[in-house]
Order: sequence, then C-alpha cells, then structure tokens
Amino acid sequence: MTQTPLRKPIRKAVFPVAGLGTRFLPATKAIPKEMLPIIDRPLIQYAVDEAREAGIEQMIFITGRGKTALIDHFDMAFELETTLRDREKDMSVLEPTWLRPGNLVTVRQQVPLGLGHAIWCARGIVGDEPFAIFLPDELMIGSPGCMKQMVDAYNEVGGNLISVLEVPHEEVSSYGVIDPGKADGALTEVKGLVEKPKLEDAPSNLIISGRYILQPEVMQVLDGQGKGAGGEIQLTDAMARMIGTQPFHAVTFAGKRYDCGSKIGFVEATLAMALEREDMADEVRAMAKRLLG
Ligand code: UTP
Repeated sequence: MTQTPLRKPIRKAVFPVAGLGTRFLPATKAIPKEMLPIIDRPLIQYAVDEAREAGIEQMIFITGRGKTALIDHFDMAFELETTLRDREKDMSVLEPTWLRPGNLVTVRQQVPLGLGHAIWCARGIVGDEPFAIFLPDELMIGSPGCMKQMVDAYNEVGGNLISVLEVPHEEVSSYGVIDPGKADGALTEVKGLVEKPKLEDAPSNLIISGRYILQPEVMQVLDGQGKGAGGEIQLTDAMARMIGTQPFHAVTFAGKRYDCGSKIGFVEATLAMALEREDMADEVRAMAKRLLG
C-alpha cells in the first residue's frame, strides 16, 4: 500500500495589497484598489472568503500608506453594529468581515518595489511553513474555489503550486508565463517561468493567475534578489530559481477568472456577477438589453 507523505498544512495566506493601483486613478487616490466593490463586496472580501473556504486561518496583509480601510473592513465597527442591532436589522451581511482575533496580521511594505518584495516582507510571519498567496485584484469564481482546488492538489503532490489559465497567444506579454512539462488532468509540471515575455519568447500561452502555494524557501531566494521586468523585484523570477530544487506544478483552475486590476475586467466581473445573482439577475438582464438598444 502506498502512503501519502505527510505535508505541512496551508494555514497562512499572504495578500499583497501595497500596490499603487495607478490604473484606477483617481478612484484609488484615497482608497485601496482592493476595496473597490464588485456589487456589494470589496475585492479583498472575495479573496479572504476563498482563503477561508480552503481552510486557511491566518491572513497576512502586506500594506502601505493609505491602506487602513482594508484593516478597518475586517475590524469591529462598534457604532454600525450597535445601531443595526438596536434597529433589529439583519447583521448577517457583516459576518464575512469578522475574523477571529489574532487572525489578521499586517506588515507594511514601505516602498512598493514589486510583488516579490511584498511577499518577502512577510518572511518573519510566514516562518518555516508553506503558505498561500492571493492577488485580490484577480477575482476567481469557482466551486470549489480556486485555492481549495489548489490545496487539494497540494495534498496530492506537495511542493510549490501556481494556478494557471490559457489566454490567446497575443496577450501573454502582460503576464507571467509557464514552460509546461508533463500534464496529468488539471496538474502540469512546471519546467520554467518567465515574467512578461516577448511574444516570440513565450514558452506557452498558460499564464500565472494570481494564486500560489509556495514553500518557505522562496523567502531565501527573494533575499537580495535584484530587479527584474519593469524594474520591480519579481516573484516569478524567485519561483523560476526554485524549479529543479523542489517540486513545481501548475493547476489549471476550473472556474472563471476576472482581471479586476483592469477597467474592462472590472466591468466584466461586475456584470457577470450581477447576472449570477438571484436578487438582481432579471433586472440586470433587462437593463443590459435596454442599454444595448
Ligand atoms: P499590480 O501589478 O496590479 O500593481 O500588482 P498595482 O499597483 O496594484 O496596480 P496598477 O498596475 O498600478 O494599476 C499586483 C499585486 O501586487 C501588489 C498589488 O497590490 C496587487 O495586489 N503589489 C504590487 C504590492 O503589494 N507591492 C508592490 O510593490 C507591487
């Protein structure tokens, strides 16, 4: 009988939210991009819900100046809660914002030097455990959720995992791209990674899509790593250097992904989610038809 080797469970998730959100200015001048709502839930809420569904307990936010709304969102709101209770209003809408005391940790990145640098800022809290990463501006809608699918895959193969999806070849230059090896169902071996390749250099059209499970050794790789594409310290470069030293797989996400870091992606997500909601789908469909003439 073969025994599945014991793997350290994924208990911690890092949410890098220190970016400047320049594509959404001026909306993101005073509020973080991750607080922009898709209908009535901010992006960060979708990501935290996805983490909880995957069994993750501790949320680590990598923040910067002007990001306190993100922390307030998951704090008690005394006046609001008291008023709702006094007026006998439904409190259940606030439930997703309540985290167990101690389960939200924040670290300041100080200077937004890139995604790799943001993750490295969590090294003291991550310690020697494998951990998940969520880019909250990538909205992943699936059942089970994307991270749950990845944790299930992690329990099979261990090591490092990234979520990937296929895009038209002409779009690959905006993303991190994998060099795929052997595939088995949704799992694909990763032989190499390249951040924002030129079209002719792209090893595939499978792009990294905002969810990761990484081993803590990535922090040592990031330590002292220089700048990469776009003059930023790139997580993709650090992961690429780990390939060959540890198992590395991609999980093709069974679900829908919306790039809410771009305006068009954000509008698409809003419309798609509204059309999924029982409380508004009919009205939204009628409204869209009217607008389209
Ligand atoms: P983006 O590349 O989307 O950058 O970062 P951005 O600043 O959020 O948005 P634009 O491009 O200026 O409009 C991807 C993720 O990495 C985080 C961002 O917050 C986002 O979740 N990030 C990026 C950091 O936390 N720190 C950084 O130095 C860079």
